[in-house]
Amino acid sequence: MAAKKAADTKGKVVLAYSGGLDTSVAIPWLMDQGYEVVTMTADVGQQADDLDEINEKAIRTGAVTAHMMDLRGEMIENFIWPGLKANALYEGVYPLNSAYSRPLIAKALIYVAQREGAVAIAHGCTGKGQDQVRIEVCANALDPGVAVLAPVRDWHWSREDEMEYAVKHDIPVPITRQSPYSLDDNLWGRSCECGVLEDPWNTPPKGAYGLTADPTEAPDKPEIVEITFDKGVPVALDGKKLNGIKLIDQLNKLAGKHGVGRIDMVENRLVGFKSREVYECPAAVTLITAHKALETIVLSKDVMRVKSDLEKKFAELAYEGCWFSPLMTAIQAFMDTTQEVVSGTVRVRLYKGSAVAEGSKSENAIYRYDLATYSEGDAFDHAASVGFIKVWGLPIKTWTQTHEKGKVNFKSAVKEKKLTALAPFCEISA
Ligand code: ARG
Repeated sequence: MAAKKAADTKGKVVLAYSGGLDTSVAIPWLMDQGYEVVTMTADVGQQADDLDEINEKAIRTGAVTAHMMDLRGEMIENFIWPGLKANALYEGVYPLNSAYSRPLIAKALIYVAQREGAVAIAHGCTGKGQDQVRIEVCANALDPGVAVLAPVRDWHWSREDEMEYAVKHDIPVPITRQSPYSLDDNLWGRSCECGVLEDPWNTPPKGAYGLTADPTEAPDKPEIVEITFDKGVPVALDGKKLNGIKLIDQLNKLAGKHGVGRIDMVENRLVGFKSREVYECPAAVTLITAHKALETIVLSKDVMRVKSDLEKKFAELAYEGCWFSPLMTAIQAFMDTTQEVVSGTVRVRLYKGSAVAEGSKSENAIYRYDLATYSEGDAFDHAASVGFIKVWGLPIKTWTQTHEKGKVNFKSAVKEKKLTALAPFCEISA
């Protein structure tokens, strides 16, 4: 298929292209609307066996230029590590793997659009997901007013319409039955939705998983891995220094073999309804577990408390498309400050679906043996506790003295049914 000449067109549009059916069909569709199509495929560590062929396929389908961008390094440095520093888990469980790749894709689209002198960017998201929100909000944060085309959202086609259009435009349609699920994956994990998972009563079938062993079939012997962190960032496994890509990759395989990182949740979507998702994030779950354990020995109580509130906010902002927002920038600055001391090693035990931190050490540990021990060498000032308790409990004691006239009367409290649990001890019926 020959591309139209620049002079006849409305200009170039940069399409986020995965090589799948939706975004492939989007190429001739955008051309029919009068655009020249430039594709941008992001390599974020997805399990694609034909990554090299994607550019070729884009050109065959009608794109004038096809860009393959290896964004794994940037994904790790600017999204995964900040997320790990924040122990970020949406609604307490989802490590945000899909959510992290969208602002990055938006950034790459804007970058290519500027270089190519394009008039618009385009994506293949539907109108029901949050990926459309993330890409468009993030793209506008980087290039306010950028024109965004969303063919899949606009055209309301059925799968059959799409197939027919694909055949008409010589786009290879997968011959094998497509996965019954909607999948998305990258270095930080794999997301799986749709199909039988849409009924939250259904147990996810074996086929919904692709990265992890079923914990019941995982090895009978646990495996121990030592993870070393430098300022909140993992830098070595079992003492061997590794770059981020290798470290995450190895840990995905190792923890995945032990069935670690399976998450089955119904989540609250930004667009107003709930959806059921099955995630597999072996490296993410293991690293967050280890990172949290290390933080417990190096961070102060106050920092940990405030950090935990901000971790929740960080996850919500990432999930809801606000990556490039002033609040996210401020929270990341806070996180970075806290991570100055988060260096050390954690020993994690991987066994039949669980990753448990079994030991941690750090030169920055404020855990003090001599203060904590109940054995010989105890340096804690026991006598100081007497005055401490007096002052600490003073406001509560004062309250009782004022409102209970000096002493709580248990008998009357039981009578008034304020203290029913004590009734048996007060020789009266409550
Ligand atoms: N619900 C997740 C999120 O919004 C994952 C969506 C990824 N897409 C998919 N096809 N499963 O981040």
